[in-house]
Amino acid sequence: MRFLIILLAYTARAFAASIENCPGYTASNIVDADGTLTADLTLSGDACNIYSTDLPDLTLLVEYQTETRLHVKIFDTGLDVFQVQEHILTRPSSQNISSSDAALQFSLIEDPFSFSITRSSSGEVLFNTTGSQLVFETQYVYLKTQLPQNPNLYGLGEHSDSFRLPTENYQRVLWNSESPFIPRLSNLYGSHPNYLDHRGDAGSHGVFLLNSNGMNININRTDEGEQFLEYNTIGGILDFYFLAGPSPSEVSQQYAEVVGLPAMMPYWTFGFHQCKYGYWDVNYVAEVVGNYSAANIPLETMWSDIDYMDLRQVFTTDPERFPLHKMRELADTLHERGQHYIMMLDPGIHRLGNYSTFTRGDEKGVFLKADDGSNYRGVQWAGEVVWPDWIASSTQDWWTDEISRFFDPESSIDIDGAWNDMNEASNFCSDVNCDPAQQAKDSNNPPQPTNPPRNNTGRPIPGFPEDFQPDPAPTRRLRSRQAASGQMKGLPDRDLFSPKYRINNHQGDLSVYTLYTNITNADGTRQYDTHNMYGLTMLTATRNALLARRPGRRPFVLTRSTFAGAGARAAHWFGDNASTWADYRTSIAQLLAFAAVHQMPMVGSDVCGFNGAAQERMCARWALLGAFMPFYRNHADLSAPFQEFYRWDLVARAARKAIDARYRLLDYAYTALRRASATGAPIVNPLFFLYPADKDTFGIDTQFFYGDALLVSPVVDDDAESVTYYLPDDVFYDFWTLARVRGAGANVTVDNVTWTDIPVHIRGGAVLPLRTASANTTALLRRNDFRLVVAPGLDGTAAGSLYLDDGESLDVGDEMSEIGFAWDGATFKAAGTFGYSTDVVVESVVVLGGEQPVTREGPWSLNEPFEFTLSQ
Ligand code: NOJ
Repeated sequence: MRFLIILLAYTARAFAASIENCPGYTASNIVDADGTLTADLTLSGDACNIYSTDLPDLTLLVEYQTETRLHVKIFDTGLDVFQVQEHILTRPSSQNISSSDAALQFSLIEDPFSFSITRSSSGEVLFNTTGSQLVFETQYVYLKTQLPQNPNLYGLGEHSDSFRLPTENYQRVLWNSESPFIPRLSNLYGSHPNYLDHRGDAGSHGVFLLNSNGMNININRTDEGEQFLEYNTIGGILDFYFLAGPSPSEVSQQYAEVVGLPAMMPYWTFGFHQCKYGYWDVNYVAEVVGNYSAANIPLETMWSDIDYMDLRQVFTTDPERFPLHKMRELADTLHERGQHYIMMLDPGIHRLGNYSTFTRGDEKGVFLKADDGSNYRGVQWAGEVVWPDWIASSTQDWWTDEISRFFDPESSIDIDGAWNDMNEASNFCSDVNCDPAQQAKDSNNPPQPTNPPRNNTGRPIPGFPEDFQPDPAPTRRLRSRQAASGQMKGLPDRDLFSPKYRINNHQGDLSVYTLYTNITNADGTRQYDTHNMYGLTMLTATRNALLARRPGRRPFVLTRSTFAGAGARAAHWFGDNASTWADYRTSIAQLLAFAAVHQMPMVGSDVCGFNGAAQERMCARWALLGAFMPFYRNHADLSAPFQEFYRWDLVARAARKAIDARYRLLDYAYTALRRASATGAPIVNPLFFLYPADKDTFGIDTQFFYGDALLVSPVVDDDAESVTYYLPDDVFYDFWTLARVRGAGANVTVDNVTWTDIPVHIRGGAVLPLRTASANTTALLRRNDFRLVVAPGLDGTAAGSLYLDDGESLDVGDEMSEIGFAWDGATFKAAGTFGYSTDVVVESVVVLGGEQPVTREGPWSLNEPFEFTLSQ
């Protein structure tokens, strides 16, 4: 054992030594044209070839793109190394400003080459590579920056770790992967190589490395105790965007300027969604909808998982369990009831001669190819499958055509959105020697549904036609899978399976349980380089297809796999979590990272947890917490017991209360999304985004602001009935009682938080637009009037806003209202633009802050400005 430790220590030192002994680069031909700087970087000595081959000639390009954005790009002069394709992620254009106007300054040391970024206003060093060599090899790129002690860093998703990242011995691995149970300290489904560094009074800045290759990012201390962050990628270039902030929210907005502003979602998507893998037939799906009505819990959207598919083939329905005509009827009935319907679309396409989705795609050459030119095969739910090459020229047309055929609103199932799953991509072939046909047989896909205990009512399903009757517990099993019908550009000469530098993919080697990394995409790039963007390209194609199907209507795509920029196109859920208190808590850290740092606002977890059995009390708490997250969906695994909110009386009560509050607040959240979509201002705010100087807020990830005015402080401990939460030094108002609470910049402990309660506070200084009442559907909700709640801040004033439009048009043009509300302590004013004509009025305005709330009754039209003064 001792020998082993000595050997490990020796090996670690030897590796460390070899990076330090690398020659680094020398900068020459430096051309500083004020707004841009270029230089040649030449390998300074003998190649060290630690993990592959050193590239001798690099180019440095520095662009002062905007006052707050500095672009630093280090790439191979020969332009052979892979770079993220522009058509996948469009780059922001540079305004080429003078460096003297810039908030960030770039400086370099020529030999050995290093660079640093400083804040112009204070001289604070934000990023500094001095003291370590740049290594740029064919399959390994290394760059290290110094950091202040105990930095407050956030981002580098997707992960299930704390929101503020650990700073010692911490590694973030970016390699999109199937990740059951969302393991900690691990790569998960998405890759977002950007972080926010918050330095309190000294401001915040952001660093985005636009690189899609697999990487390990290490945050640690040197033996001398100096803090650092280092990038170790297995390819690509160093394409950095430095964002000046200086406020955390501004950093986030500046990031959106690079990767794209978040997509505006349809209004109804803020409703409550229900899903489960394992609703075995269409009647059962209808029954769940009916049970929600019977339990008086508003259900906005019903989802179908892969259960509906015939033999797990996308764009088919099981003729016995989910016959097409019944599926149509289901969707139509939901629509008549003002509800919505979403179905799953996986990327793995069953490789079967008589399966038309496959044959049509094959004829158009849309599938990824193996080295011999044949379709690359693997295994997924349907058995032996092939995967679309989203980059190939015909793929979009094929996918749009398949979606339009199957989801034709006139003649087929009229869906309202699409769910993209397994798009990392997940492959049930675990290693590169896999025989897909055999593996498909062995893994017995599709899986057999279990026979869970029924909870059916035995009576007609409310609101559904006669022929929707609860089936007896299923006796029919899925037919066993058909015999596998025999049923599954960058530098040349690289080891595309097992590069010498290993990233710590939790699955093992790069190609384990995913598409083989040696696959060549249609444009000549390799999966090795593009892997992390497979999901992004799929969701983009799906979004485009939905747009083509319903031109002018906002598409809704929910995706599991993401990459930087995904928020501009889709929504995301946090994958296959567990029905545990730990994952209930983790959902908050994940929400904060995605919504505030990665600019992906429409996010949430599987409420009550995906894997395992949800416990009643936990599910009640989660029903309440989920209601304050932008995307709110209860979903569970095939093997998990049912966990719809109506299954337990306590959970039903918690859900009714939660949904009631959520719906009354829906326009507040919708307004926040509109703001995010127009400006990048985050829809959800970590506490330090609003109190950036308050050090006590920097590490909080069990509380958050929903929008910028509602502080949500759920009970977080297992089975607990008390919670200790932080109230910043500010004035707040209890959302439920409207009582004034003076925060002292200290923890507050509240006991006896019932199982149907969640502490929520309105931040002083806000005007909150609330619907006067909730409703069964968001369509009905839109008819309800508003009550405005004025919550004066410490200075006695308050402000807020309300955004109104038709809820679904992609381009609303002038037909929208953006109304600003302002309270100066005596006079209330509503002013702005009033392009959306509505009969809905402001029924009353409630001013808090006095001994008692003061209510001024309206009505006031929302089609024009209004104001009134309250006499004291
Ligand atoms: C994995 C997804 O993460 C999960 O949500 C879904 O239920 C299953 N695939 C089955 O489609």
